[in-house]
Amino acid sequence: MSRGLVLADGLEGVAAFETGLSLIDGDEGRISYRDYPAEAFQYDKSFEEVAYLLWYGKFPMTEKSEEFQRILAARRFLPKHVKLTVDQMPAEVDMMSVLQTAVSALKDCESIWPPSWDQASSIVSKIPTIIAYRQARLEGREMIEPRLDLNHTANYLYMLFGEVPTELQQTMLETYLVLTQELGSNPSTFTARVVASTRSDLISSTSAAIGALKGPLHGGAPSEVLEILREIKSVDRAEAWLRRALESDRRIMGFGHRIFKRQDPRSAMLKALALRFAADHPLVKLAVEVEETILRLLEEYKPGRRLVTNVDYYASVVLSVIGLKESLFTPTFAVSRSVGWCAHIMEQAMHNRLIYPQAVYSRDLHSHRPPAWFGRAADKGLNEAEMPEVVL
Ligand SMILES: CC(C)(COP(=O)(O)OP(=O)(O)OC[C@H]1O[C@@H](n2cnc3c(N)ncnc32)[C@H](O)[C@@H]1OP(=O)(O)O)[C@@H](O)C(=O)NCCC(=O)NCCS
Repeated sequence: MSRGLVLADGLEGVAAFETGLSLIDGDEGRISYRDYPAEAFQYDKSFEEVAYLLWYGKFPMTEKSEEFQRILAARRFLPKHVKLTVDQMPAEVDMMSVLQTAVSALKDCESIWPPSWDQASSIVSKIPTIIAYRQARLEGREMIEPRLDLNHTANYLYMLFGEVPTELQQTMLETYLVLTQELGSNPSTFTARVVASTRSDLISSTSAAIGALKGPLHGGAPSEVLEILREIKSVDRAEAWLRRALESDRRIMGFGHRIFKRQDPRSAMLKALALRFAADHPLVKLAVEVEETILRLLEEYKPGRRLVTNVDYYASVVLSVIGLKESLFTPTFAVSRSVGWCAHIMEQAMHNRLIYPQAVYSRDLHSHRPPAWFGRAADKGLNEAEMPEVVL
């Protein structure tokens, strides 16, 4: 290894850039956007107001807030070619891949450097419309066009359900969307910044970030949380189910976090939200009852790893209570996180230096065969005998 080179597996403990957007305190379990702790605005600020804070550094006054809402609303409509692009994609293609492709196809955000707030607002405005358009197609119906008089959250639900949301739906989704707009150098944001640092355009940076968000170790976990709760079914079955899962090395989705080792504050806030608005909902009850058993068994099977409940555990509950389909959980995460991506892309562009970490060559990683668990299904047609020999 070259002298002076530090190898940090998974880049743990490494800061890749400075940011003025958020303070993520993993030890204390706290998040602030700019100088505002998330607890302070979780219920009373809209999606647009928090996006404005992240993009322009302060909460907007009423007039500015209305203007910003109008700007975002005006950009909701999809160009025809983007709809055609979505129409071309087979029904089996998952929503995140469709979103990534459709974002790449957005024409009004041309490939230019440096990126602009104009482009950022266009992408953030259109992501919900792309999701709603695809969902309508999957359900075999016409798209419900965006409404200019509704705010970002209400319009998203309106396009999905065809009705103006109830107060409960609006509050629950708005809180979720506000709490998940930004989280420092998380994998998708880091991806966006890496792409932006090459002076590639905002669209390419965003679509790369969508690809990173899709993974179950990052934003793809909430639908798997629901699957786990569904399999557990009731609190009396939880312990036996979890022991079986942990003994077969299964990860319990919605638990563990790279940064938060004491608590993920978003999880606490979303749990409080679920209990405040839907305490009697069977899924809320089950999630709350089972959480304690999961934490106890994680500590028993993975002592000292400090695996806490992360945002995705109660996000899955909240999104489910609102009535969203599981296939929409991660795309809905993209609706909010796109704000943070754009803020980081702009920040990267303003203080740009190419992000280019090194790799350390290791002969130990040579292997003739992939490990047993590795993508056999994906290797269809390429059987063992045909696998290329690695010559050492
Ligand atoms: C989020 C996550 C990827 C963070 O990972 P990380 O900081 O890189 O930690 P590692 O993957 O190195 O895991 C450390 C140890 O804890 C275990 N672990 C971590 N999360 C676990 C989970 N949810 N269930 C069971 N074991 C877990 C790992 O198996 C590993 O065990 P080992 O030391 O015996 O090998 C990880 O906690 C995880 O996979 N969680 C589940 C997916 C999820 O909820 N993602 C959403 C994140 S917001």
